[in-house]
Amino acid sequence: MIEAPIDLPCGVTLKNRIVKSGLSEALGDLKNNPTNELVSIFKRWSDGGASLLITGNIIVDRWHLEHAGNFVLDSSTDIKKTSDLCDAAKSGGSLVLAQLSHAGRQTPELINSEPLSISNLKLDLQGFGQPRMALEKDFLDLIKKFSDSARIAKQCGFDGVEIHAAHGYLLSSSLSPKINNRSDKWGGSFENRARFLQLILQKVRATVGKSFIIAVKLNSSDFQKGGLEISDSVKIAQLIEKENIDFIEVSGGNFEVPKAYQYISLKESTKNREAYFLEYAKSIKAAVSIPIMVTGGFRTKSVMEDALMSSSTDLIGIGRPFIIDPYFPKKLLSGDISELPTIERQFPPLQDIPNGAVLNWFCDQLALQGKTGKGDLNIPLLDGHKRYLKQSDEMTRNLLDHRNNNK
Ligand SMILES: Cc1cc2nc3c(=O)[nH]c(=O)nc-3n(C[C@H](O)[C@H](O)[C@H](O)COP(=O)(O)O)c2cc1C
Repeated sequence: MIEAPIDLPCGVTLKNRIVKSGLSEALGDLKNNPTNELVSIFKRWSDGGASLLITGNIIVDRWHLEHAGNFVLDSSTDIKKTSDLCDAAKSGGSLVLAQLSHAGRQTPELINSEPLSISNLKLDLQGFGQPRMALEKDFLDLIKKFSDSARIAKQCGFDGVEIHAAHGYLLSSSLSPKINNRSDKWGGSFENRARFLQLILQKVRATVGKSFIIAVKLNSSDFQKGGLEISDSVKIAQLIEKENIDFIEVSGGNFEVPKAYQYISLKESTKNREAYFLEYAKSIKAAVSIPIMVTGGFRTKSVMEDALMSSSTDLIGIGRPFIIDPYFPKKLLSGDISELPTIERQFPPLQDIPNGAVLNWFCDQLALQGKTGKGDLNIPLLDGHKRYLKQSDEMTRNLLDHRNNNK
């Protein structure tokens, strides 16, 4: 089953069911263009045999990055460098989607102390500023920004875009009844909360034409009291499938409740739980007729095939194993391996380590791969975490200096 091709509604065929989900590579340069390091990583991922590679967050507004190293698609984008990235990502036979995002209230305070958001509710974490609630004109401006970025993505050679409406960023927060406390046409009922996303999808489709892939990453749940729940998520999926999209990727959580990259440490349990959003994906799949992809926790071929056979999902989204072994899809598809690398299970339980440590360890590996061509799995968890925090601070300082000097 995982080797079976699948036709998407726009007419494009994916050669198998293995998809690399978005991994914020943070390897953009000071002008937020892709670097050669990023290009080399995408070349390896393409050689690895997945049918589709989805980039990490690519930001539609350079004042709303989620990390100083994001790359941006706007009128200042270096088309040549971005086209090189697309060529590398497709050189081994994969297709590539640009994950279009706006960080909203999850924009770090150093980058923007007053980020635009759906409401003025501040993120309950240090390092994030007091948001400014979007006005009518901001919605119109943002709809245009998403469609402009999609147009530039197509010009550069991407096969499609994934609109990031999960993980607490701007579009995710507008779907959330907890964060979107508006009483105008952009808030309240699920139809109103979904309006912004729907209008973006309509404008993007009108801009890129029929045969360009458009996917949406959606939270199954925010896992927060008063936040988005699966019942609303199913109804939102039914609304957006009418906008000529090609598939919905199911995930969950946000910066406050980071459920997207959870794991069960070996210390906690000998029985490994896989595919933690699968039941949610199944509910969404039962309610729509477009393909569904679910990401989070898949590590064995048998669980992937069960998920496909039981009609819980059509595509298998995978993240962290691509950082450990970019070539695992070929090995899995040929039968050389039946299990993916699960290094995160060697780490201590989440409650015993600093916030973000595992994520930062993986980001450090990506940065190392960019610089040297390979990671170093012997770097202890906390060392990788600290190294990455330092690099991240340095990148932010350099970006701000660069912007100040070029005002
Ligand atoms: C280092 C790292 C960066 C990530 N960046 C993104 C991102 O830019 N966009 C996104 O949608 N998800 C991002 N994610 C979440 C992954 O797409 C995926 O949902 C998560 O890792 C769970 O899948 P896995 O268990 O196969 O790793 C990131 C995860 C990690 C570990």
